[in-house]
Amino acid sequence: MKDFVTRTASFLITSALLLTACNPTNLGPETTTNSTSTAPGPATAIPIGIAVAQTSNVALLGQEQVTGVRIAEKYFNDRGGVNGTPIKLVFQDTSGDEAGTINAFQTLISQSQVVAIVGPTLSQQAFSADPIANRAGVPVLGPSNTAKGIPQIGDYIGRVSAPVSVVAPNSVKAALKLDPKIKRVAVFFAQNDAFSKSETEIFQQTVKDLGLELITVQKFQTTDTDFQSQATNGINAKPDLIIISGLAADGGNLVRQLRELGYKGIIIGGNGLNTSNIFSVCKALCDGVLIAQAYSPELSSPINTEFRKAYLDLNQKEPPQFSAQAFTGVQVFVEALKALDSQTKIKTMPLPQLRTALNKQVLAGKYSTPLGEISFTSEGEIVQKEFYVAQIKMDPDGNNGKFVFLK
Ligand code: ALA
Repeated sequence: MKDFVTRTASFLITSALLLTACNPTNLGPETTTNSTSTAPGPATAIPIGIAVAQTSNVALLGQEQVTGVRIAEKYFNDRGGVNGTPIKLVFQDTSGDEAGTINAFQTLISQSQVVAIVGPTLSQQAFSADPIANRAGVPVLGPSNTAKGIPQIGDYIGRVSAPVSVVAPNSVKAALKLDPKIKRVAVFFAQNDAFSKSETEIFQQTVKDLGLELITVQKFQTTDTDFQSQATNGINAKPDLIIISGLAADGGNLVRQLRELGYKGIIIGGNGLNTSNIFSVCKALCDGVLIAQAYSPELSSPINTEFRKAYLDLNQKEPPQFSAQAFTGVQVFVEALKALDSQTKIKTMPLPQLRTALNKQVLAGKYSTPLGEISFTSEGEIVQKEFYVAQIKMDPDGNNGKFVFLK
């Protein structure tokens, strides 16, 4: 137990250092630049709000989103922005909770006068903050919110992150392909997190639909670091497959403890574990974990080739799903703004009208993105075709690893 506390503490310190190091100015999270633009329309650069987790454990996911949107800002501004007018991303750190997200949204909407928001990181945060944007008539694209019910929050809420119902079952099918003898399945989920609760429902239904036996369901909290009791209960039920719905720090620790307690079967991690930032948590014991993907770096398309190259140049590793989705969120707003501006000059539009027209245009468009060709249903749900499953491959010393895409 003490050992885990020490490990978690050192992991958190490493993460904090990592986050600081990732910020070019080393002054903590990206800070807001308030736009002073007043109606009609944005005067100079067009402000788009970015409300993701830059601090807390949720920054293990949010940090990848910051990288993705920064690449998008440069990419689209290098290509003329919105018909000659650049975009400007306005960052507000949501941290990992609901209160921080509500503050971030309110600041972006009222002070920064953004035309739209990409964010937040968690579905748990979206269910609290999205209604505020919806009431204010500000379009929101969730870059990673995959719980059931996100687009249904309101007319102004959409997402570029395909829902758990579409993504999660792929990993169970992949596990069966790797080991057709799988029969007994144990499921773990974080009961204090809206996405994890939503994802486990899909996993549990998939298990039943595929004729497998759901032998135990174990619950934890995203703030937990000690999983001895749940892991022991799970292992005692003798599963051939374990499926985890949680977030990166808790999920990574759970993987580690299941292996340390002797579990040898396949582990599936859900969407909250889909980051190489779990490598420092479970190290060599992350090896073999299967995670379904809504993005593949290998997708062959002109924009993905350019996005992948930009990411590789900056980070010397393949782009992850959360960066690709965040890039896509900015892309959709930029392309919708361009289409709108070609019909009516957006500089002449008062901000409330511009926000409403932009929301309508987002839903009407088709976009060629790093995720492939996407569009939206009238409710704002993403329509996407390609999905994948990857398996974590760690070096034996546990210091480096990668996601290997399964054929
Ligand atoms: N997919 C996770 C969520 O929706 C990150 O919260």
